[in-house]
Amino acid sequence: MRVLLVGGAGYIGSHVARRLSERGYIPVIYDNFSTGHRRFIDRFEVIHGEIADYECLRHFLKNVDAVMHFAARAYVGESVLKPREYYATNMTDALTLLNATVDAGISKFIFSSSCAVYGAPEQLPITETTPRFPLSPYGQTKAAFEDALKSYSAAYGLKFVALRYFNAAGADESGMLGELRSPETHLIPLVLKAASGHSPAVSIFGNDYDTPDGTCIRDYVHVNDLASAHVSALDLLIHKGESDVFNLGTGTGFSVLEVISAAEEVSALHVPRLILPRRPGDPPVLICDGEYARKKLHWSPQRGLIEILSTAWKWQIINTAVGAESAVC
Ligand SMILES: NC(=O)c1ccc[n+]([C@@H]2O[C@H](COP(=O)([O-])OP(=O)(O)OC[C@H]3O[C@@H](n4cnc5c(N)ncnc54)[C@H](O)[C@@H]3O)[C@@H](O)[C@H]2O)c1
Repeated sequence: MRVLLVGGAGYIGSHVARRLSERGYIPVIYDNFSTGHRRFIDRFEVIHGEIADYECLRHFLKNVDAVMHFAARAYVGESVLKPREYYATNMTDALTLLNATVDAGISKFIFSSSCAVYGAPEQLPITETTPRFPLSPYGQTKAAFEDALKSYSAAYGLKFVALRYFNAAGADESGMLGELRSPETHLIPLVLKAASGHSPAVSIFGNDYDTPDGTCIRDYVHVNDLASAHVSALDLLIHKGESDVFNLGTGTGFSVLEVISAAEEVSALHVPRLILPRRPGDPPVLICDGEYARKKLHWSPQRGLIEILSTAWKWQIINTAVGAESAVC
């Protein structure tokens, strides 16, 4: 079975491509390489294309059985400053992909949604029925695309799974795939850069939240566990043919200071830190209730914070050495 991974050259898509291939599926990568990397997916069939290009999509969707949609603008802070670009890519252009998929007669679609659709819920942990109140244009576009999927599912027989990732983190155990973005905004790579001296310090935005140590708490889920969830979601669409929405997280939250101290343990290095004021819109705590995914998707994460940090640390060491020799696409 051939699966088109739109945005498959990025961080999460490239891990999913490997897992699909290990499970006997044929991943085909469709990407504009705005933030993706050729060396992540060089063993697979690759199409350089835009999600806004209906004709190109229709051409390549001829030989495909399912679509996974990872492509997006995904910087929450930037989305507040540039909502126009975020709505254009994550809604208008993404709808072109959805239209091309439906027009090509493909009925299986898996979407990278986000816990950002929930905003800052008061009730924790967050279940799939927790009301969605996204705080940023990024989260709003994710919620709106989920709504479009529901409407298309009702009208055109499309079957979809929307996967609401919590904080994706870690790297492939091989050390050959991992997080590589510019600018880097995710906590774990930033902590490890500070540990290795590639940055002077990691910034902590607020240490006066109503949490045990005053810093924000998040649910970090290993990228290869997310990859397995995509295979489970595809299996679900193939065997049950029902649309559904799942939260993907571990159910355990870690504060920024806990992540830093675990990173110090893994790297055996001190992490310099800088306390800064809170960022507007940062919820104090986000923790996933993964019960529904466990029951219906038969998925639960296999890796914890130490595996996340040790694989991310290995990736950083190898990638820094590779990056010194060859330019990244
Ligand atoms: N990383 C996380 O913690 C996280 C959490 C929740 C949701 N998500 C969502 O998961 C998805 C993947 O995230 P990621 O961290 O792998 O991001 P990423 O930036 O590494 O990957 C996105 C990929 O999409 C490609 N792309 C972007 N715009 C495109 C376009 N117009 N046409 C074709 N390709 C395009 C990029 O080149 C890149 O390869 C995104 O939709 C993101 O919103 C990520």
